[in-house]
Amino acid sequence: MRTIILYYTFGGATMTEAEKLASELKADCVRVREKKKRGLFTAFLPGCPQAMKRKASDIEPLGVDLTGYDRIALGAPIWASYPAPAFNSMVKLLPANKEVELFFCSGGGDTSESRAGTIKLVEDMGCTVVSYRDVNTGGKPKKLEE
Ligand SMILES: Cc1cc2nc3c(=O)[nH]c(=O)nc-3n(C[C@H](O)[C@H](O)[C@H](O)COP(=O)(O)O)c2cc1C
Repeated sequence: MRTIILYYTFGGATMTEAEKLASELKADCVRVREKKKRGLFTAFLPGCPQAMKRKASDIEPLGVDLTGYDRIALGAPIWASYPAPAFNSMVKLLPANKEVELFFCSGGGDTSESRAGTIKLVEDMGCTVVSYRDVNTGGKPKKLEE
């Protein structure tokens, strides 16, 4: 089975998780980047209201063909109890009939407020959610320095 991991990270925690998963599964791993760079302030505003409204953000082209994979894992941080906007952009790229794994990094490890709606977004693309995982990263929000 060919698996690819797509992830967005702001502070690096989701990247750490994605790379761990990639080495366990021997999967390809691609970091999704937003076209407009965010700072900590713009992550909160407008990032949090966008996340809560399930808005997608503009992302750089992936450079990979997702149709060639059987299983696609999507990872993102949680902002204001919802997946960060770039997650919604990744969902829009899903080809139908794929198995999808989801993992979310958050300071509290609880995504019960958004979980059902998040799964529905993916299912509305014609995909099957085979797993959903919360990763409790603790600590304070930070920005990844690149
Ligand atoms: C704008 C913003 C909003 C956040 N909102 C929440 C939240 O509602 N619940 C929570 O548990 N963590 C929240 N966090 C913490 C992040 O989800 C957590 O630090 C996560 O591990 C960050 O992943 P990253 O390093 O890949 O960006 C927030 C962080 C940021 C920057």
